Amino acid sequence: MSTTSYDLIVIGSGPGGYVAAIRAAQLGMKTACVEMSPTLGGTCLNVGCIPSKALLTSSEKYTEARQHFAVHGIKTGDVSFDLPTMMAHKNKVVKDNTAGIEYLFKKNKIDWIKGKGSIAAIGQVKVEGASGTQTYATKNILIATGSESMPLPGITVDEKRIVTSTGALSLSPVPKSMVVIGGGVIGLELGSVWQRLGTEVTVVEFLDRILPTMDGELSKTAQKILGKQGMQFKLSTKVTSAKVEGEKVNLTLEAAAGGSPEKMQADVVLLAIGRRPYSEGLGLEKIGVKLDERKRVAVDHHFQTNVKGIYAIGDVIAGAMLAHKAEEEGVVAVEMMAGQSGHINYDAIPGVVYTWPEIASVGKTEEELKKAGIAYKVGKFPFSANGRARAMADTEGFAKILADAKTDRVLGAHIIGPDAGTMIAELALAIEFSASSEDIARTSHAHPTLNEVVKEAALAVDGRQIHI
Ligand code: FAD
Ligand code: NAI
Repeated sequence: MSTTSYDLIVIGSGPGGYVAAIRAAQLGMKTACVEMSPTLGGTCLNVGCIPSKALLTSSEKYTEARQHFAVHGIKTGDVSFDLPTMMAHKNKVVKDNTAGIEYLFKKNKIDWIKGKGSIAAIGQVKVEGASGTQTYATKNILIATGSESMPLPGITVDEKRIVTSTGALSLSPVPKSMVVIGGGVIGLELGSVWQRLGTEVTVVEFLDRILPTMDGELSKTAQKILGKQGMQFKLSTKVTSAKVEGEKVNLTLEAAAGGSPEKMQADVVLLAIGRRPYSEGLGLEKIGVKLDERKRVAVDHHFQTNVKGIYAIGDVIAGAMLAHKAEEEGVVAVEMMAGQSGHINYDAIPGVVYTWPEIASVGKTEEELKKAGIAYKVGKFPFSANGRARAMADTEGFAKILADAKTDRVLGAHIIGPDAGTMIAELALAIEFSASSEDIARTSHAHPTLNEVVKEAALAVDGRQIHI
C-alpha cells in the first residue's frame, strides 16, 4: 500500500476524467488520475474527436481548393495532396493536445499514476504499472473509463483491411474503395474524409435512414447532400460477412428484413456500429457496483454508484457518448462530492456531425415531440436566403426551430449548413435559459452573419421571417 493517500482517484483520463481531476484540484482535493495509455486525453484526444477533426479539416481544405475556389475567381491549376504530411499534421495536433493535459495536471498538482487501475476495495485503487502493482488509499473513486468500438459477431477487425475508427484515422495509401458498416456519426465523418481524398465510399446502414437518432429532416437532407458529394448509401441492409482475402475484403450483404444475399468487394471496411462502455476489469462485481442491462455503470443524480464513495461519468454510464457530456458530468460529480450543488440539463447538450455541411442538433427532435404528444410550431429558414452564405457560395441546408405551441419555449433546434456546429451554441444557450423563439427573434444578430439564419428561423415560428 502506498503511503500517499488521496481525496479523489479518477480512473481514466479522457475528457470526463481529466476535466473532473482538474475541477477537483481547483476545489482543493488531493487528486490522482490513473491512465493506462502512454498519453493522457482518452479516446477523444488520442483516437477520437481531435484526430478526426484534423483529418476532416485537411480533407475539407483540399476539396475546397479543388471544387470551390473557382467560383471565387481563384485559379489553382492541378491541386494534389500529400497524405504523409496530412497524417503528420494530425499526429502533431494529437501530441500537442495530449501534452497539454500533462501540463495541466502538473499545473494543478494532479498525480498521473501510470498503469491499469481497478478497485481493490472501497477506498482503495490498485494500479498495475510497468514497475509493479501498487495500491492507493482514497476517499472517493471516480470511474471514467470510457468506451470501445462495438464488435460485430463474425467480423474480425485487423485495423488494416477491416478497421474501427482507430484504424480509419491512419490508413495509407488512400483506399480505392471502402464499405462503411453503420450510417452514424463515425461512418459519415470518416467516410467523408476518405471520400474527399478519392475513395469510393458505400455506407451500409441497418435502419431505413442514416443518423437515426437525429431529427428525420436533417437525416434526409444530410443523405441527399452527402450523396451529391459522391457517398453511396445502402439503407435497410445488413452485412452478414466480411472476410479479408488477399488485398481485398469480400462482403455479403442482405436486406435487413432478410432476403437474397448480395456480394460486394472493397479495399477497406470500416466498422462503425456504435460503441460500448468499457466497464470490465475494474473489479466492480467484487465490490458490488451495479451495471445496467447494457453493462454501463449505474449511477444516481450525484453520479454515485450504489456503493458510497464510488462515482462514474462519461461514456461508461448511460447517455450520449460525447466528450462535452462527459466533461459536464465530471465537473458536476466532483462539485457534488465537495458538497456543492450542480445540475446537467441533458436537453441542452448539443450533438454535432462534422461533415460538410455540418449537422447540429440540440433538444427534442420532431419525432420525439410527436411521440410525446407535445404540440409544437416549426420555424425554418434556408441558408440559400442568407447574404453571408451566398457570399461564401455555401448555401446548402437550413435551420429549424421547434417551439412549444402554447408557451413558445424553444424545445429543439436542428441545423444543417456551413458552421452549424458553431451556430448551435446559441440555441443550446436558449434551451438552457428556457428562452422562447420570440426571445431569439428579438435578439439582434450581426449582419451579415450565418447566425441570421437562426434569427430568421425563430421569426418563422410565427410566420414573420423577413428575407423569404
Ligand atoms: P474516454 O475518452 O474513452 O477515456 C477513457 C480513458 O480511460 C482512456 O484513456 C482509457 O485508456 C482509460 N482507461 C480505461 N480503463 C482504464 C483502467 N482500468 N485503468 C486506467 N485507465 C483506463 N465526441 C464529441 O463530443 N465530439 C466529437 O467530435 C467526437 N468525435 C469522435 C470521433 C471518434 C472517431 C470517436 C471514436 C469518438 C468521438 N467522440 C466525439 C466521442 C468521444 O471521444 C467520447 O464521448 C469521449 O472521449 C468520452 O470521454 P470519457 O472521458 O468518458 O472516456
Ligand atoms: P452511432 O450510434 O452514431 O451509429 C451507428 C450506426 O450503425 C447507427 O446508424 C446504427 O443504426 C447502425 N448499425 C448498428 N448495427 C448495425 C449493423 N449491424 N449493420 C449496419 N448498421 C448498423 O455510432 P458510431 O458512429 O459508431 O459512433 C459511436 C459514438 O461515438 C457515437 O455515440 C457518437 O456519439 C460518438 N461520436 C461522436 C462524434 C461527434 O460528436 N461528432 C464523432 C464520432 C463519434
